[in-house]
Amino acid sequence: MHIRPEQAGDSHPIAELTRRAFARAKHSDGTEQDIIDRLRKRGKLTCSLVACLGTEIIGHIAFSPVCIIGAHNQHPQWYGLGPVSVIPAQQRRGIGKTLITQGLATLEKTGTAGGCVVLGDPGYYQQFGFMPSPNLTYPHAPAQYFMVRSFDSNIPAGIVRYDAAFDT
Ligand SMILES: CC(C)(COP(=O)(O)OP(=O)(O)OC[C@H]1O[C@@H](n2cnc3c(N)ncnc32)[C@H](O)[C@@H]1OP(=O)(O)O)[C@@H](O)C(=O)NCCC(=O)NCCS
Repeated sequence: MHIRPEQAGDSHPIAELTRRAFARAKHSDGTEQDIIDRLRKRGKLTCSLVACLGTEIIGHIAFSPVCIIGAHNQHPQWYGLGPVSVIPAQQRRGIGKTLITQGLATLEKTGTAGGCVVLGDPGYYQQFGFMPSPNLTYPHAPAQYFMVRSFDSNIPAGIVRYDAAFDT
């Protein structure tokens, strides 16, 4: 298995694997593949990595910029993690963990990213350093499911808004 950035021709396999992965997921409305397509069209797919087994794409992760409403000071750009998917037959083999770890490292290495937020299962995401913050919040989900990870130990205060590609 190797990880590489998305390239031309990957959009259909990414959509298909995302649809299959989320078909069995709780809290899914089945539109995650459409979000990725809209992010790509809007030029907001800042980091898009695929996991490949030979030539087959078996996993994918997307990161896109988020706005922080109400933040008073200038702050570096923050990003939202997701959607992230691994095809059902290859789940629980560490592929999701590798995609998340490499994606976060890619963002951090740009030197311009302040941090990353995620909406998901705390039991899974805390291993990557994500935790809820009283300062940086997302009002559309229970607080324990919205977590932040700063790259520079600063967490701006405000309310997170995902890109319009996430609007249904
Ligand atoms: C979420 C997803 C990307 C993870 O990918 P993956 O390759 O299966 O995950 P990994 O193999 O890296 O990690 C799985 C490990 O995390 C652990 N884990 C998973 N969810 C957990 C949780 N809620 N609490 C604690 N541990 C958890 C599992 O125990 C597993 O370890 P084990 O095999 O030793 O038991 C994948 O399951 C998926 O595509 N799910 C459907 C789509 C989805 O829900 N995406 C995330 C939306 S936020």
